[in-house]
Amino acid sequence: MKPQVSLGRRAYFSVGRRLHNPAWGDEQNRQVFGKRSFPHGHDYTLDVFYRGEVSDEDGMIVNISEIKPIIAEVLKQLDGKFLDCDVPYFQTHRPTAENIVEFIWNELPSRINTGRLVRLRLQETSTSWTEKTEATMKVTRQYEFAAAHRLYATGLPDEENSARYGKCSNPAGHGHNYNVEVTVEGTPDSATGSIIAPEELDRIVDEEIFERFDHKHLNEDCPEFTNLIPTSENFAKVIFDCLQPRLDRDGHRLAKIGLHETTKNYFEVEA
Ligand code: NI
Repeated sequence: MKPQVSLGRRAYFSVGRRLHNPAWGDEQNRQVFGKRSFPHGHDYTLDVFYRGEVSDEDGMIVNISEIKPIIAEVLKQLDGKFLDCDVPYFQTHRPTAENIVEFIWNELPSRINTGRLVRLRLQETSTSWTEKTEATMKVTRQYEFAAAHRLYATGLPDEENSARYGKCSNPAGHGHNYNVEVTVEGTPDSATGSIIAPEELDRIVDEEIFERFDHKHLNEDCPEFTNLIPTSENFAKVIFDCLQPRLDRDGHRLAKIGLHETTKNYFEVEA
C-alpha cells in the first residue's frame, strides 16, 4: 500500500448564537447554559483535513483549488448567520462547537479524489477548540496557572544535581506560568449539545488543579511531590491522574493532558 498523506485547509467564519433548549423554561436554560444562554457570537477558525494516496499523475491527494469552493459553499450556510434562527439544523441541535463541527462534517464530501475526510478542528476562542475524526469527538480547554519548583534528585550528590538540572536546581526554587490543555472525549449530549459543559470542566480544573497547585511551591507545598521530582514529565502525569477520576464518567473521558512549561517546552500524556 502506498503511504498516506494528510493535507489541511483553513477557513474562517463568524456566527451568532444562543444556547437554548426549547423544552426548558428560561430559568432552566440560564441554569444549564449560564452566560451562553444569551445571544453572543464567535469568530471561528476551521481546519479541514483530507488524507489519502498521492496521485502519480499530478502529485496531489486533492487539488486545493477544488477543496476551497467546497468548504466555502458549506460555510456559506453558517457565516454571518444567527444559527438558531437562520439554520434549520440548529433549531433541533444546540449550536455548540460540537454540533457546528458535526454539521460541517456531514455537509463536507467524505471523499474528494483520493482523499478521505479524516479530521476537523474548530477553534472557538484562543483557549478552546473541538476536534472530530471518523471515530472520535474531543473538546479541549486551556488554562494558565503559576507554580514554583526545584529539580533535585535526592539520590544524587549536589554536584551531579547541578550538572544535570543546571539553573533548574536553584536551592530556593524558581517559577513558571504553566499552560495546561485538558482534552475530553465523548459524544455530545442531545439536550445540551456538549460533550461536557465548559462551566463544569472549568469547575473540575479549578478544584483539582488550581486549588492544589496554583501559586504553590510544588516541592514544599504539594504532597504529590514529596517523593517525586517535579519535572514537567511528572507534573503532566500528576495532573492527568488528578483529573481522570472526575472526567471518566457521565459518558465522557479524559483523553489527553498537554502541559506547556514555557512557550518552548511541551509535555503530553494520553489515556
Ligand atoms: Ni523549571
